Amino acid sequence: MEKFIRGLPKAELHLHIEGTLEPELMFKLAERNQIKLPFESVAAVKKAYNFQNLQSFLDIYYQGTQVLQQEQDFYDLTWAYLQKAVSQNVRHVEVFFDPQSHTERGISFNTVHTGIYRALQDARSELGLSSQLILCFLRHLSAEQAMATLVEALPYKDTIVAVGLDSSELGNPPSKFKVVFDRARAENFLTVAHAGEEGPPEYIWEALKLLNVSRIDHGVRSIEDADLLDYLIERQIPLTICPLSNVKLKVFDSMEQHNLKKLLNLGLCVTVNSDDPAYFGGYIAENYQAATDALKLSQQELYQLAKNSFRASFLTPEAQDASIAELDSFMRR
Ligand code: HPA
Ligand code: ZN
Repeated sequence: MEKFIRGLPKAELHLHIEGTLEPELMFKLAERNQIKLPFESVAAVKKAYNFQNLQSFLDIYYQGTQVLQQEQDFYDLTWAYLQKAVSQNVRHVEVFFDPQSHTERGISFNTVHTGIYRALQDARSELGLSSQLILCFLRHLSAEQAMATLVEALPYKDTIVAVGLDSSELGNPPSKFKVVFDRARAENFLTVAHAGEEGPPEYIWEALKLLNVSRIDHGVRSIEDADLLDYLIERQIPLTICPLSNVKLKVFDSMEQHNLKKLLNLGLCVTVNSDDPAYFGGYIAENYQAATDALKLSQQELYQLAKNSFRASFLTPEAQDASIAELDSFMRR
């Protein structure tokens, strides 16, 4: 099963590039940029990764981003992730980045974007990995700050497929960003949003109805609303689920309690993703594996999850078909 999972051609659709910062690279960049970390060692960092909820994770996650200063830092971060993804047969990745967590510290949007984007281009030519970039607004900041970030991103529009919404969900509903998302869609960005991770099903409705999202990130609390489930099934609106993240942040008490399999078998277009792999104990293959072990997923169910990942992506229909043909040929072998 382990070999099957690693070999399965798949797309990753919920991946925060800042969440791929491994402690080893954190120390290396801290030294490069002469920043004093509040940790003595890699082991001490890992020990601090013991979260009670989303906010307790975010506090550490934003602290970690402070070592990212120069374009080369963003390049090195992204390149390390992309190599890892390719080693687990990720064929396509849609990468989230949080410009505000850097511009707030005085790092320019251009520095962040150029470093990440150059690594994505190198992965395309050197590793055969296709990718797209999704700009996330930090929802704990104001709608005005999000709008300013959107305007700053306009010159880079051709390299950013969509905008999204992340950070502290409770108390920051999608409705807060309606005007920003209207403008983003007018500028031809697709839209996604984290919703129903800690927040209630109403937040998922708002993301769908007010922000016109193509996908819901997480969305596991959709299970509490039968009408919402019907809506998601009928329209095949994808959920980008992150099993290890959900257990680490105590959205579920254990992997055995996770509703991934239930949602899949209800006919929702659910996908498996890694969210912040350096913080949650595994990359995409480890997420497929942990869910498989706890929920006894069959090869057919894993095939469906991988197929969904291509159908849920922002690849063209032709490129999706080509990836699914590759997946089908893997299954025949
Ligand atoms: N939820 C909200 N914000 C985030 C996450 C998440 O899972 N990961 C990084 N920022
Ligand atoms: Zn996320």
